[in-house]
Amino acid sequence: MKSPTAPGRWPVLGHAPALITRRLQFLSSLSSLSSVGEVVRIRLGPIPAYVVTSPAAVQKLLVPGDRDYDRGRLMAKASVWFGDSLLTSHGPSHEQQRRSLRSAFTSEQVDSHVRHVQDSARTLVKSWTPGEMLAMDELMKDLALTNTAQSLFSTSLTTGSLESIRLHMPALFKSVIFRTILPSGLERMPTFGNFRFRKAMRSLDDAVAAIIAARRAESGDKHGDLLDSLLAAQDDQGNMLPDKQIRDHVMTMLVAGSESTAAVLSWALYEIFRDPDLARRVREEVGALPADQAFTAADVLALTCVNNVISETLRRYPVPFIMRRSLKPVRLGEIELPAGAEIVYSPYLLHHDPRWFPDPLRFDPDRWSSERHGSVPKGAYLPFGAGAHVCIGKRMALAGLATALAVICSHWQLEPVAGQRIREVATGTVHPNRMPMIPRRLPADEWERAA
Ligand code: HEM
Repeated sequence: MKSPTAPGRWPVLGHAPALITRRLQFLSSLSSLSSVGEVVRIRLGPIPAYVVTSPAAVQKLLVPGDRDYDRGRLMAKASVWFGDSLLTSHGPSHEQQRRSLRSAFTSEQVDSHVRHVQDSARTLVKSWTPGEMLAMDELMKDLALTNTAQSLFSTSLTTGSLESIRLHMPALFKSVIFRTILPSGLERMPTFGNFRFRKAMRSLDDAVAAIIAARRAESGDKHGDLLDSLLAAQDDQGNMLPDKQIRDHVMTMLVAGSESTAAVLSWALYEIFRDPDLARRVREEVGALPADQAFTAADVLALTCVNNVISETLRRYPVPFIMRRSLKPVRLGEIELPAGAEIVYSPYLLHHDPRWFPDPLRFDPDRWSSERHGSVPKGAYLPFGAGAHVCIGKRMALAGLATALAVICSHWQLEPVAGQRIREVATGTVHPNRMPMIPRRLPADEWERAA
């Protein structure tokens, strides 16, 4: 059976204008076409691509493993920057990498990440003064990047290397997604943007290489961080990973671990504090945590209201789309696709389908209460993907998010600035165009307990 074509196709450009100018509305509008087929055809200029709209077909795409698919044209291009890592590989090479990195994501690593997040979030909230205007989206980017870097490098993260990562990573975040879409020739042109991007890449490479070299030169003391695990990791033949591959994994973790976490934190704070009743419920819950003790992942993952807020934020503001490419003819739902077909699955589309999430634009953390959330079918909620490529940092991300929210909400009442229109901007994540907020003091008794 042939897949239906999405409406709104332009001559020559196909659906590229819709994907560039109103990506999120376009993607969520495709869920209404699911009655005509589980796979909808779109055109990216001359190239056809197939958007999978039904949870069952997305499960079929992701879950049997990835012998039939590679990562598609976006990741093929991103491998120029991220090298050979989990984000860009597929099949047996990916399976081997996944096995060798398992030791970097143990419960001890997650607990250690929680401690880093608790410390840096505390330092951050103590630097705020009541009534000042905060650019919360920028602060959350910095917090998420610092936390990921600390969990990767712990004590080897000197002030200089952290500064270099903080300075150059935003240029990478900003343009990497557009660069994967642009024709390759444009990247070699002598423009300011290309110059800045290349400089950022070089500086990040130098900072990461210096940290790896310094760690290798040490006498073998253990730091208990992700870099220790990467340096100790072995491939299936028992060989240690070469420096180039460790660099590729480190860059991947810095990018994959920070940008999405920052966006989710900003949106969660925005949603909590524009609903006074929700803010009160969250504060009551986090107020019961022992503020003077180090949290564990188990402590923060047991916070029902906070974790429902996180689940709902991940539903409402998820990764916009992810690609695969068929390596042989495949069948998804009713549709046969040829080898080489570019396939799109979109957590944004799935999470805004009113069949599973009534009134999908409404932020409602109680959708995730134990009585209600059983009705969501498999494949309809995929904030961390599924199958062979399910997010390796999922538990670390969830525990880190809950920790940061617990620390921030137990110290301050945040006030969204009136009259500012906050828009969703889709790049590799859905992030806010801006997020100005004003911290206000908590009632005295709560402030004393938190301090
Ligand atoms: C809220 C935070 C996060 C979100 C929403 C998120 C989302 C995702 C999604 C949707 C995928 C699947 C991609 C696919 O199907 O191709 C993924 C994969 C991945 N994520 Fe995350 N992620 C988050 C945090 C993290 C963190 C903290 C790390 C590491 C420190 C991380 C590292 C990775 C890596 C390496 C992959 C590729 C896994 C593979 O292909 O085997 N992510 N993430």
